[in-house]
Amino acid sequence: MALNLILMGLPGAGKGTQAQYIVDEYHIPHISTGDMFREAMANETEMGLKAKEFIDKGDLVPDDVTVGIVKERLSQPDTEPGFLLDGFPRTLAQADALAEMTDVLNKPLSAVINIDVDPKVLTDRLTGRFICKTCGATYHKLYHMPKVPGTCDVCGGHEFYQRDDDKPEAVKNRLDVNIKMNTPLVSYYDERNLLHTVNGDQEIDAVWQDVDAILRSL
Ligand code: AP5
Repeated sequence: MALNLILMGLPGAGKGTQAQYIVDEYHIPHISTGDMFREAMANETEMGLKAKEFIDKGDLVPDDVTVGIVKERLSQPDTEPGFLLDGFPRTLAQADALAEMTDVLNKPLSAVINIDVDPKVLTDRLTGRFICKTCGATYHKLYHMPKVPGTCDVCGGHEFYQRDDDKPEAVKNRLDVNIKMNTPLVSYYDERNLLHTVNGDQEIDAVWQDVDAILRSL
């Protein structure tokens, strides 16, 4: 049976980190709206330039833009065995649009995994994050350093960068905006009996053990 998943959590909760484990273990495509926007921004497409106005300030990209890119991506044949949505939906309007899409495409959701983290630790996680320029693997200057300093564990690359929206001035607004949106979304999926919450205030491997246990139980 297809594994159709949503990974939700506040910025810095560890969605991207856990997504990498899930994709490696379950071989389903990782659909991150944040990554799609960053790629469009790097390529300076019309959509990328529009998204940049919002992302650099830590605001949400408007629903019509976001829903449009997810709709197109979920229609691709590689999502037949399943998919992992990371960072979508983020508003109730997006959640309703997704419900319509999954109905039309006959790809019902299997589970929503909510990584729950005390917001107090998130500023630290975001401002300390650095990313491999070649493969996008994510590290942290205190909590998750590459095994060989200066060399990416995944691809061996040597260049790293910090996201513009991880700079302290954007992080505060990003957290405020997302904290406001998160609670209603958690209730939305709880009411539909799809929600599984994991404690994200543990070491990365311990969070993965909890996520994997949920996926095995489905
Ligand atoms: P997006 O790219 O989705 O960013 P985000 O939700 O802000 O999440 P992050 O990628 O920052 O964090 P994460 O949870 O993946 O954490 P990570 O694993 O990297 O979105 C960016 C922007 O695009 C949004 O602000 C918005 O503008 C726009 N956008 C995207 N989707 C949208 C939508 N649906 N609607 C509207 N706009 C949208 O971990 C963070 C750090 O912590 C890393 O350094 C990591 O190494 C470390 N870490 C991870 N887990 C642990 C742990 N357990 N203990 C210690 N450190 C840890």
